[in-house]
Amino acid sequence: MTRKLFVTTALPYANAPFHVGHMMEYIQADIWVRFQRMLGNEVHFVCADDAHGAPIMIAAEKAGLTPQDFVAKIAAGRKQYLDGFHIAFDNWHSTDGPENHEFAQDIYLKLRRQGLIAVRSIEQFYDPVKGMFLPDRYIKGECPKCGAKDQYGDSCEVCGAVYTPTDLKNPYSTLTGATPVMKSSEHHFFQLSSQRCIDFLQQWTQEPGRLQSEVLNKIREWFATDEQGHVSLADWDISRDAPYFGIRIPDTEDKYFYVWLDAPVGYLASLKNYCAKTGRDYDALMADPTLEQIHFIGKDITYFHTLFWPAMLHFSGRKAPDKVFVHGFITVNGGEKMSKSRGTGISPLKYLELGLNAEWLRYYIAAKLNAKVEDIDFNPDDFVARVNSDLVGKYINIASRSAGFLAKRFAGKLSADIGVEGRTLLDGLRAHRAEIERLYEEREFGKALRETMLLADRVNEYVDANKPWELAKQAGRDAVLHDVCTVCIEAFRVLTIYLKPVLPALAAQVEAFLNVAPMDFADASRALGAHVIGEYKHLMQRVDPALLDKLFEPPVIELPPPGGEPLADEIKVDDFAKIDLRIAKIVNCEHVEGSDKLLRLTLDVGEGRTRNVFSGIKSAYQPEQLIGKFTVMVANLAPRKMKFGVSEGMVLAASHADEKANPGLYVLEPWPGATPGLRVR
Ligand code: MSP
Ligand code: ZN
Repeated sequence: MTRKLFVTTALPYANAPFHVGHMMEYIQADIWVRFQRMLGNEVHFVCADDAHGAPIMIAAEKAGLTPQDFVAKIAAGRKQYLDGFHIAFDNWHSTDGPENHEFAQDIYLKLRRQGLIAVRSIEQFYDPVKGMFLPDRYIKGECPKCGAKDQYGDSCEVCGAVYTPTDLKNPYSTLTGATPVMKSSEHHFFQLSSQRCIDFLQQWTQEPGRLQSEVLNKIREWFATDEQGHVSLADWDISRDAPYFGIRIPDTEDKYFYVWLDAPVGYLASLKNYCAKTGRDYDALMADPTLEQIHFIGKDITYFHTLFWPAMLHFSGRKAPDKVFVHGFITVNGGEKMSKSRGTGISPLKYLELGLNAEWLRYYIAAKLNAKVEDIDFNPDDFVARVNSDLVGKYINIASRSAGFLAKRFAGKLSADIGVEGRTLLDGLRAHRAEIERLYEEREFGKALRETMLLADRVNEYVDANKPWELAKQAGRDAVLHDVCTVCIEAFRVLTIYLKPVLPALAAQVEAFLNVAPMDFADASRALGAHVIGEYKHLMQRVDPALLDKLFEPPVIELPPPGGEPLADEIKVDDFAKIDLRIAKIVNCEHVEGSDKLLRLTLDVGEGRTRNVFSGIKSAYQPEQLIGKFTVMVANLAPRKMKFGVSEGMVLAASHADEKANPGLYVLEPWPGATPGLRVR
């Protein structure tokens, strides 16, 4: 019986391009989905951008864009990653799409009708300058314990103290610097504390086979249990006050759903959008009791997916998810969390641009994955070893060692009857099909690949024992050579099927080479017989370790030249000594009639007379600001006749080379105590 599956990955925040952590999640889910399709199951695999929330609203504002345009820009960058790593989503949508607005509001109204929405007034920090309630991450202040400055509202990075934002001393808004004030407003809560919700969630989470055991243990910690054995959960605050980029709460003027309320609803919205695009009936699909709804997520968002989301679905009259598959994090080089802001990690786009094969990464990640919530580490040496010795050395080699003889000596035609030894080998490979299917089904990809590589070892032992390259030189051994090469190709075909969920592009190349239709798992149990294969072209290169070094090289950041211009040619101290710089007192300053650039300065340089100097600083100073101040002038500059009179020197001022783009003009001023006529050297 074929299964019907609705599969999603977490919806990435639309405020940054993908990092390797995202790619790992997509690769894991994509392998599982491709495997299901190879069993003949019907799969609908969708994702979307998570568009809403305060951080995206603020990032858009900083970029000078509307949130909609900001999110659209990020969305436009998604395809190159997904295509590049062969991630076969059926649809990519956005949580700001109309379907999501409709579904989120509908879910809310149904929860309200169930009596599960409470409205309560709460007090929160408010930025009076920005006119906005402040999420905790935008509040900083002094640590209440050790007094360290610029600490976030939850904990101190200096002494490690843990507290709440209201404990901070001298708190300020990181958006405006303003001192936040406490202000109250009405919030909407989803009453997870209600007995109905607790009963449902206990039953849903504990359904055998639903969740991984580690996940279930975590959930048990989240349900607080008192001495009488009473289990409780806190209500969930699902509303935010305007200004907010989100979905309006029905029957309110200025309240929006907290982003985590509408984010998972985006799974349904993307599916509905996909159904509309492909002529499918969304309602019928969702009403089908056999449809399995499965979410792949990272461990950090387990709470939302195993408590809030199932309860939202259930109490709005929908079916809760069948399974939530939680994975750990990918780290790089022994531990650091992938984080764009901290600049660690490897860029998936750079990986592709360097010409590294996307399927090497798929293979490597798959080889490290299991069904547990464990972190995996990207280690470059390990990566090179697995790809070069396993994938290329063990698997690809089987084809490259046998295909040439078949083409040259037998016109590409396989032998129809291959003898006992070969048949035993192939039967052995085929016998592992059920086990490998089970491992893929259970997301034990590492084990599935290990198993497959052990089978490849057997095939290589067979090749080494039968030595086709020697058979080819011996007279009268053509029939044996034909059989041995046929066995190799058949074995290669079976191994390719076992690897196909992980290596879809390579498998397509193999299908072309073997001259066969797209293969599924059942094809592993069949033989090709006297089939004519196509031409062998080199299938996969080894990794050049130098490329991985490049992948890990920090990006070269090109700094613009200081002040917008490169430094002038080097000079000797004698050259500098030629310029006689003196302290000058500005005894008078006035506008120059007919000039919109110049000010006329009267300077005392300690000579017993004053000098007349024209200076192009009118855009930056009013005459009154300058009178009585000291500055520095070039005192030995040849007098210059100008339209408005003779200029007897030049005052020094700083400015950017591109004054239009970087306006600002700053006259030099000596430290207090300098007197007219002192030389600057
Ligand atoms: N927008 C939310 C999810 C909403 S789902 C309704 C979110 N977005 S995210 O961009 O921060 O993360 C998306 C997914 O990537 C999450 O499943 C998260 O766990 C996963 N990962 C983020 N960093 C990761 C690693 N370093 N390694 C593996 N997965 C990681 O959370
Ligand atoms: Zn502290």
